[in-house]
Amino acid sequence: MSAAPFHAFLNGKIIPLSEAGLPLTDLGILRGYGVGEVVRTYAGQPFHLADHLERMRHSAKQFHLRVPYSDQEISAVISELLRRNFQTGEEATIKLYLTGGHSDDGLTFNEDTPSFFILVLPLRLPEPELYASGVKVLTVNHQRPHPGVKSLNYQNALFHLPERQNVGAYEVLYHDGGLIREAATSNIFFFLDDCLVTPHRRILPGITRKLVLDLAKEHYTVEERDITLAEALLADEAFLTATNKEVLPVVKLDEAEIGDGKPGKRSRHLLELYRHYVRDYVPA
Ligand SMILES: Cc1ncc(COP(=O)(O)O)c(C=O)c1O
Repeated sequence: MSAAPFHAFLNGKIIPLSEAGLPLTDLGILRGYGVGEVVRTYAGQPFHLADHLERMRHSAKQFHLRVPYSDQEISAVISELLRRNFQTGEEATIKLYLTGGHSDDGLTFNEDTPSFFILVLPLRLPEPELYASGVKVLTVNHQRPHPGVKSLNYQNALFHLPERQNVGAYEVLYHDGGLIREAATSNIFFFLDDCLVTPHRRILPGITRKLVLDLAKEHYTVEERDITLAEALLADEAFLTATNKEVLPVVKLDEAEIGDGKPGKRSRHLLELYRHYVRDYVPA
């Protein structure tokens, strides 16, 4: 991280992060109305930025918002923020946010005056030991509203934070009483017999999920389909995928062990394939 203060992009300007702020009348603050994206760098380069921007435009459209810059403009701003904030080859997390902007009455907005900002901050990853030990997840009955949209609303993840920490779980896994959907900030996969299975409906289509599916198809039978909680308990292996987690083995659903309670061989294989892919990745 540079010794100079971090800079951020806010509504057209690059300014010191400490001076960046939104009006209290912004719908992102008043109503949590807006969408976002989280991208990370590998070797200092944004990873699959085009996919993230495409998903952000989809999220924005669903929320009747318009991204006020082109992909090229956003990419140039990110490069500049990376240059200003990072000088030592550290990896970064790039967070993009689009809100409804100022609202006179807190309930209506003008598509032409959204707030758009980009933060480029130090990357925070799970502790390396967790890839060796695997993690526990806390199951919770919840369906993310507008699941295909990466909205600002992570209220439920925060609501369950004390409980999650109390039981020593790393993530919250959402189900609807019968079917498993996704985790609070990740997608979930299971190895059931010889098949790699992942839920396909009412989830955020993760960029990592798609990459892992593509890599896995070369080696395993893959099914995108509904999975019940009861079926998941019979899985041999499980893992989470997300931009900032890669392929993270899951060894416990609440108090129930998955397989032998250790990260599975095939999950570790997929993590290896993923890291191999990342090493060879050249941005388009
Ligand atoms: C609800 C939810 N599901 C899945 C994911 C994983 O998505 P990605 O792999 O694009 O990071 C995230 C991460 O943002 C998420 O918030």
